Amino acid sequence: MSSPQHIRGIDDLGKEGIIEILELSDHFLEVSSRRIPKVPVLRGKTLAWLFYEDSTRTRLSFEKAAKRLSADTMNFSVSSSSVKKGESLRDTVETISAMGVDAIVVRHKSVGVPWMLPKWTDAAIINAGDGAHEHPTQSLADCYTITQKLGDVSGKRIVIVGDIKHSRVARSNIKAFTMLGASVALVAPPTLLPPSMADWPVDVIGDFDTAIKEADVLYLLRMQHERQEEALVPSLREYTNQYGLTIERSRLLQKSSIIMHPGPMNRGVEVSGEVPEIQNAVITNQVENGVIVRMAVLYHLLGSGVTPTEIQNEDNND
Ligand code: NCD
Repeated sequence: MSSPQHIRGIDDLGKEGIIEILELSDHFLEVSSRRIPKVPVLRGKTLAWLFYEDSTRTRLSFEKAAKRLSADTMNFSVSSSSVKKGESLRDTVETISAMGVDAIVVRHKSVGVPWMLPKWTDAAIINAGDGAHEHPTQSLADCYTITQKLGDVSGKRIVIVGDIKHSRVARSNIKAFTMLGASVALVAPPTLLPPSMADWPVDVIGDFDTAIKEADVLYLLRMQHERQEEALVPSLREYTNQYGLTIERSRLLQKSSIIMHPGPMNRGVEVSGEVPEIQNAVITNQVENGVIVRMAVLYHLLGSGVTPTEIQNEDNND
């Protein structure tokens, strides 16, 4: 497969590309388990972070992935940059580009921004979240976690619960999960489902308890108030009663099923306080795998010269 130049959405990868990243991730899992988890595969490459929206996991895991691959990074913070003085997205990208950059990781509240950037730069573009549209690297971390825990994504029943309407994680995951052969069901109040799902390859299940019983993967989403313009649920308490995962409800899960959440969690809303600590929960694994798959993503886009099996530490003794 010829490498795509960008990972702006799951369609930039397609099924083959996703599988390639998941296979590469196995190599980077091994690299990450070394005494010194740092390899010189991206030495001389420069990455820039362009985060116009808050982030903890995504930004830190890209940072860590880049360091493990020995890339140089340029940190750009909207709150302390010339964006505050009114500099446009285009001028910001052209400025960063003029300094020499091989890839730009961008998060923005507006849908489609990652698709605009190639007009202004030759750098590879990686989408770290555009509005409620896509978040492909979270989805890759999730596919990798499911494969690790359940052996395969194919053939699994994946139930996604919560604020699907505003979730870029749900959009990327529905594409990736179904491309890999899973069947996806959605559970949400009608106000938190998108107005039209005509071309979405999903089922909608009304009753949460029914859906839990059939789930191999129960995927919880945060209520994304920052993207809601009006009150979409009568009250948070009522929402939690119907759609929150309590310990009691988690007992309806099959023994081997897993509980996932992309973070940040709102404990007490979509998930009750103790659930993230129960055995079925793999939320911490998702975070760990976030670093691994982002190493694979960066290598996939920018790595050259070394095949994954030849990746050695600099001093060749680890
Ligand atoms: C998500 C995001 O920002 O899209 N978090 C993440 O990147 N892991 C989900 C969210 O904000 O609820």
